[in-house]
Amino acid sequence: MKKYLVTGGAGFIGANFVKYLLDTHGDEISIHVLDALTYAGNLMTIADELKRDNVEFTRGDILDAETVGRIFDEFDPDYVVNFAAESHVDRSIEHPRLFLETNILGTQNMLDQARRSWLMPGTKDTYRPGKRFLQISTDEVYGSLPREFDTPQPLAVSAEVAKVASGRTDLHTFGKEMFTEDTPLAPRSPYSAAKTGADLITLAYHETYGLPVNITRCSNNYGPYHFPEKLIPLIINNILTGRRLPVYGRGENVRDWLYVTDHAKAIDMVLRHGRVGEVYNVGGFNEAANIDIVRTIIDTISRLMHDNPGYMPLLKRPLDEVTYDLIDFVTDRPGHDMRYAIDPSKIATELGWYPETPFKEGIEKTVRWYLDNQPWMESVTSGEYQNYYRQMYSDR
Ligand SMILES: NC(=O)c1ccc[n+]([C@@H]2O[C@H](COP(=O)([O-])OP(=O)(O)OC[C@H]3O[C@@H](n4cnc5c(N)ncnc54)[C@H](O)[C@@H]3O)[C@@H](O)[C@H]2O)c1
Repeated sequence: MKKYLVTGGAGFIGANFVKYLLDTHGDEISIHVLDALTYAGNLMTIADELKRDNVEFTRGDILDAETVGRIFDEFDPDYVVNFAAESHVDRSIEHPRLFLETNILGTQNMLDQARRSWLMPGTKDTYRPGKRFLQISTDEVYGSLPREFDTPQPLAVSAEVAKVASGRTDLHTFGKEMFTEDTPLAPRSPYSAAKTGADLITLAYHETYGLPVNITRCSNNYGPYHFPEKLIPLIINNILTGRRLPVYGRGENVRDWLYVTDHAKAIDMVLRHGRVGEVYNVGGFNEAANIDIVRTIIDTISRLMHDNPGYMPLLKRPLDEVTYDLIDFVTDRPGHDMRYAIDPSKIATELGWYPETPFKEGIEKTVRWYLDNQPWMESVTSGEYQNYYRQMYSDR
């Protein structure tokens, strides 16, 4: 029975990962979730999972050596998946120090505890078998790519990748370059600089102490349980609650959208089959400009409301006002990266993973999920959750 310690498991991707693990492995695994429950974490997201005998929860900070040490001693995880992080670029511009503390020093504390707990007695760099530490990173550590095409062009992939990803026929791109694992690290925001620091200390623990680590660098995730400060849930929430739709600059920035369950599958494959010490890029093969994402959401909500009048009470404005006229172009974020695009060839060819969900299908599932789960949205946007964030600053 494999034991997973999942930090940040009450947040967006961590919670979806916990659900994926239980759907895939059932009672053959056990899970310990460690989460500080900042504004971004919500126990309602994993309420059903916490009722199971094979899932435990601790509310705590990844920076707290005593709490993390106790979990290692008592639970003795085989796998650590470190999702816990401050994750919002805009907040990092306001509060860079909190990002460095959580994302770098928190990761270093997790690594330290893993090293202490997993080391074979009497050795300096030999660890008990079957252990793995996976640091969840981001494509933002690679900086920004140019956008070279006004409209997306067909994307040619190698014959080897095409064979693995034969289920996807919709591949396209906005530029000639993509991020590979060898792309130099060039972060441009306090958030991505802090994530880069975490990557480097993770690799240093592998080189210096032989700790069995991996890093995955993923593109923008989307799907259920996403906190409504990020583009897709923000736009859905603003449409439903009768607000306008802010878009940075002219909405030209391109992101590569990865359906969160595809990401969860990739993480589990890397834990079980990845080569020790390796970095794997995990992308969605779904490049899209922000303005097109917003328009797609407007179109999708409008269509779903027309087709299912039962959803209409959720909409706090007349349906005929749900148009592109709701979009407001607002002053751009300082240092806003223009384009991210991940080349997932390494994980495709080494581990046989590819992003199965085309954007058209994933965004429809996502919008429907938000329409069907408004109590969750109301709960995470309540004042109670905002207070956790303020508390986090005052505690440190
Ligand atoms: N969402 C994306 O599109 C995306 C893309 C690339 C990489 N990532 C990375 O994936 C990871 C998860 O992202 P997410 O979108 O789920 O983030 P999120 O903000 O939704 O969740 C983060 C979780 O970590 C918890 N947390 C924060 N600080 C903590 C601390 N000090 N100790 C313990 N728990 C703490 C929060 O309470 C929350 O539950 C992050 O490391 C992020 O950098 C996310």
